[in-house]
Parts: sequence; structure tokens; C-alpha cells
Amino acid sequence: MKIRKAVFPVAGLGTRVLPATKAMPKEMLTIVDKPLIQYVFDEAKEAGIEHFIFVTGRNKVAIEDHFDRMYELDATLEARGKRAELEILARDQPQAGAVSFTRQQAPLGLGHAVWCARDIVGDEPFAVVLPDELVLHSPGCLKQMVEAAQALPDKSNLLAVQEVPADQTHQYGICGVGKRHGGSMFEVAGMVEKPAKGTAPSNFSITGRYILQPDIFRILATQPRGAGGEIQLTDAMIGLSATQNFYGVEFAGERHDCGSKSGFLRANIAYAMARPDLRDGLREEMKKYLGT
Ligand code: G1P
Repeated sequence: MKIRKAVFPVAGLGTRVLPATKAMPKEMLTIVDKPLIQYVFDEAKEAGIEHFIFVTGRNKVAIEDHFDRMYELDATLEARGKRAELEILARDQPQAGAVSFTRQQAPLGLGHAVWCARDIVGDEPFAVVLPDELVLHSPGCLKQMVEAAQALPDKSNLLAVQEVPADQTHQYGICGVGKRHGGSMFEVAGMVEKPAKGTAPSNFSITGRYILQPDIFRILATQPRGAGGEIQLTDAMIGLSATQNFYGVEFAGERHDCGSKSGFLRANIAYAMARPDLRDGLREEMKKYLGT
């Protein structure tokens, strides 16, 4: 199964991190020195993705600009001989024609956002990557999933899953655990979006990485609104699971929910501590605040 395309739903309003996201897309929030969207773009690129599809909304033009060339900036850096900075920009620059943008015109939910990408994806399996969630690991989460997919029959669907404490299951899509496939994969036995407290079929939450068959679009086209009054991707996956298998992939790596204030702060510390050029200085600074 070759996965060439990834869909990044980036139309959300980012209300959990206001006022930072009043005039700026939440996907442009910076973890250390890169915007969130660049981290997930890099993760997808590492996984072999060739075409990057952003489902945007109003006030999201900064994302489009971020993946464009900035001629004034390039020319100024060139004139000043700033080679290192030019290399950073070149490193992050997508190939011409490798990115597409389409708009979700109303906030109707994750399922609707993915459906907006149907024509750009076409008739092939694709990845969905939610930029709120970063996974600190090498190889990245999506690469782990693409590798896991190679061991499965065609027409399989994969979900990145991770256990969460029982008192958090109501915040996520949760999947039931069926037959095990090796150490870190299982057949999904039922899914539910944001189950009421005490009703979750397991502690396995669906995290922000999916590999889906294009048949999901047909289901999304008529999917009624679900939890929170939104068209839910999980509900469409439940529909698709009637005819196709879903597998949960327990990926290696630390998951960070950067769409919440505490998760965003924690991610900044975790990613800075993983950087040899910043680690020691930060450790010393933090000692001051920790009183040790
Ligand atoms: C979405 C999905 C949910 C998943 C979560 C992961 O929810 O609907 O199934 O567990 O992402 O972050 P949201 O966070 O958009 O409410």
C-alpha cells in the first residue's frame, strides 16, 4: 500500500489557546523555533508523503505564506551572506506543486474537513494528520504507521492509538481492542467518538494520525452530525468498518497535545530538551524556577 498524499485539517479556530490564536492560526504557534505545521509537514515527508493537502479556513493565509518562497527575505539574506538562515528556509521549502490548499467554508467538524479534500486526494489511500498533536520520536509516528501498513492487506485502514487515563476517555475517539497483530498492532473492535464518562470500550484513544481508504469519502458525503453537533470522522470510520478492517497502531513516542495551553508549554520544554544546542542552557534556567 503506497501512501502518497496527506490531508492536514487546519481550519479550526484554536479557541483553547486564545488570545494567542485571535489573529494567528493555531498551526503557526511555535514549538522552540518552528511552527507546529512545519513539524507535521516534516513528519509526513519523512513517511514518504509526496503531496500535502491543507484544508484551511478564513484567517489561515499565514499557513499558505509559510510554505511559499519569500523573495524579499531570500534576497536580503543573500545580500548579507547569511548562509545558515538561507539553508533553513531551503530545507523547509516544499517542492513546487507539492502542496494544495482548499477551504472548509464552515466549521462543520473533522469529518467534513477531510471530505473537503476528496477531489484532491482522488481514489487512493491517504493519511490524515492533525497538527495539534506532535509525537516526539524518530522515526516519526506516520512513518511507523506507513511501515505497519505494509504488513496488512490492501484496503486496510490504520489509526494511531495510545492509552489515556480512564478519566480522559470522554475527550477522544476511543476504539475497542480485537485480535492482536504482533506486539504493537490490533484489529479495532468498535469505535466511539467522545464516549460519555464510564462508557468507553477501552482506554485506547485515537490520536491525530490516520491512514484511510478513499471509500471514506462516500460515507462522509452523507454522514449526519454526531458528537458536539459536528460531522465526525470517527462516525464515518464506524460506517466504513462494516466493509473494511481497521487496525490500531500503538506507536512509539511521546504525544503532545499542543492545542491546549499546558500541552503547548510541555511540548516546548520537551522539544527544547531534545535539542543539543539548547538543552544545557534550558536545564540551568529551569533550575531557577524549580528552586533546586
Ligand atoms: C479529534 C477526533 C478524535 C481524536 C482527537 C485526537 O477530536 O475527532 O477522535 O481522538 O481528534 O486529537 P478533536 O480533538 O478535534 O475534538
